[in-house]
Amino acid sequence: MSASAATSGASIVATEQDLHEIGEIVARHAQLEGPLLPMLHALQDMFGHVPQAAIPVIADALNLTRAEVHGVMSFYHDFRKAKAGRHTVKICRAEACQARGANTLAATALAKLGVEWHGTTTDGAITVEPVYCLGLCANGPNAMVDGRVVAGLDETRLDALLAEART
Ligand code: FES
Repeated sequence: MSASAATSGASIVATEQDLHEIGEIVARHAQLEGPLLPMLHALQDMFGHVPQAAIPVIADALNLTRAEVHGVMSFYHDFRKAKAGRHTVKICRAEACQARGANTLAATALAKLGVEWHGTTTDGAITVEPVYCLGLCANGPNAMVDGRVVAGLDETRLDALLAEART
């Protein structure tokens, strides 16, 4: 086996050690009932994202196509295809927050940071992800910063949060 396996598109490389750990995690979860989600969570816990190199290993172990594995990863927004930045800002995109201006707020924040959804700023400080309801709908627009819910955002407050995350 080669020392590394480059993935398509992204410059993500799996080392021999990564491949070994991927194989162990997949094997450990393969016998569970409903193994795919626990497997993906375990991989993300280990690597901070689900490595591209894990997709064919999972697909083989569970007798799925790679597209099916990708489909599940895309459906559950928590799974990352690349490592996150030092801070994760999740902006609520569910209906109530949208009605209170979340779309405009998010679009402005993404433009200021120079990223798309799921993107990470070039300094590695912030990853922006969507989230679908944080349970504080009446107080939106809302976000979650490193697991802490922040309600009642406006552009000024969000700017301050983002600036704080970059310091
Ligand atoms: S819709 Fe955003 S918190 Fe519920």
